[in-house]
Amino acid sequence: MAQLWGGRFTKDTDKLVYAFNASIGFDQRFFHEDVAGSRAHVKMLAKQGIISKEDRDVILGGLDSIEADVDNGRLKITDEYEDIHSFVEANLINRVGDAGKKLHTGRSRNDQVALDMRLYTRKQVRETDDLLKHLLGTILSIMQKNIDTVMPGFTHLQKAQPVTLAHHLGAYFEMFRRDRGRLADIYDRMNYCPLGSGALAGTTYPLDRQMTAESLGFYGPTRNSMDGVSDRDYLIEFLSALSIIMMHLSRFSEEIILWNSNEYRFVEIDDGFSTGSSIMPQKKNPDIAELVRGKTGRVYGALIQMLTTMKGLPLAYNKDMQEDKELSFDAMDTAKGCIHLFDGMLATLKFNKEIMERSARHGFTNATDVADYLVGKGIPFRDAHGIVGRIVLDCIDKKCAIDDLSLDELKKFSPKFEDDVYDAISIKTCVDKRLTTGAPGRAAMEEEIKACIDYLKDADSLIDKA
Ligand code: ARG
Repeated sequence: MAQLWGGRFTKDTDKLVYAFNASIGFDQRFFHEDVAGSRAHVKMLAKQGIISKEDRDVILGGLDSIEADVDNGRLKITDEYEDIHSFVEANLINRVGDAGKKLHTGRSRNDQVALDMRLYTRKQVRETDDLLKHLLGTILSIMQKNIDTVMPGFTHLQKAQPVTLAHHLGAYFEMFRRDRGRLADIYDRMNYCPLGSGALAGTTYPLDRQMTAESLGFYGPTRNSMDGVSDRDYLIEFLSALSIIMMHLSRFSEEIILWNSNEYRFVEIDDGFSTGSSIMPQKKNPDIAELVRGKTGRVYGALIQMLTTMKGLPLAYNKDMQEDKELSFDAMDTAKGCIHLFDGMLATLKFNKEIMERSARHGFTNATDVADYLVGKGIPFRDAHGIVGRIVLDCIDKKCAIDDLSLDELKKFSPKFEDDVYDAISIKTCVDKRLTTGAPGRAAMEEEIKACIDYLKDADSLIDKA
């Protein structure tokens, strides 16, 4: 047990207490962030004349050697240290002696852990954004190829009106685009450096917080030291953004599961992204989509845990806050893994265009357009709605589509029907006439796709622009 704070204690820590209290098992994840923070701190201490340049160089050399040895496996991070901060400092003192004891001047583990967690989360925000950007590219390329692929659009999971595959996927493009926007907003708010907050009340040393903030890529220092050490809002915001991303992925997964079912057969999931059954030889299961749907709850769990952990904490640091790590890390890994795998599954998904189009033809998805046709012939919409309702009933009886009825049959419902009705209610016309902004008609969709291409070209690093 290597502890940094033994001075005022007369007894060793109970072994169970030590294990209960320790965080090294999980905070070793931000070893590199911890070293980076120490480097920035020690350079600033020397520049401010708080430690000598010689000590600075000795400490920097020690940090370099510790980092190199951990990276090449010569130095193991073990649970003989309480946390990653103790690991680095104890090893530094071990390697460079007295100079190493000066590293912690004007610094507390409270601002250190606040910094490490923020640096680590910032990296996760970027990585998540990169994965989302890639996913958007995959969605866009499917959209580009399917402007004319007609499929039924649903409400209440009942066939409603015809849309196109490009339009349907375009809805997900918008969701993930907004998710990226959320990440950029979070980045913008979180990118301030808590280092120099001390334990809670700053420090009497003349630290240059602007310097450490800038050297670590922050916009500047946080403005209140008590807030600096006790703020985890950014993490809650990130977990919330991840939860929304997972919710979007889960909805999309649910659709792919339905579309891949024997009843729909709209899509076929690639063999590489499916699994079989140990007993039923015919099975090819959509496990990846199901797991993405299933793991969503796990990410929500992390969000609720953090909200709950923070809600009763008096200012400033409390040890409860050590609980900000394990579930958050798991949520970050889970969400990134899900985006990545989902992207691969989507990129290899085969769309059965004929089946989709046939399905759009056979669910009365043009019923609204038949009513609109009658409106065009001077019948008030409410009356037209009633007429078409009766036609649908008749078709259900005859097991046919509206456009399968002859003109004579149609005229029995309204004398206003003419020859031009067939063209007016063809699936192709139904889609292409929908030209309002955001609608599936070819011209509207081409416009939209152009805008999506520009967005992806432009938004190379949304976060850097934040
Ligand atoms: N392991 C701690 C955490 O994760 C580091 C900060 C410890 N500070 C303290 N005063 N005990 O929050």
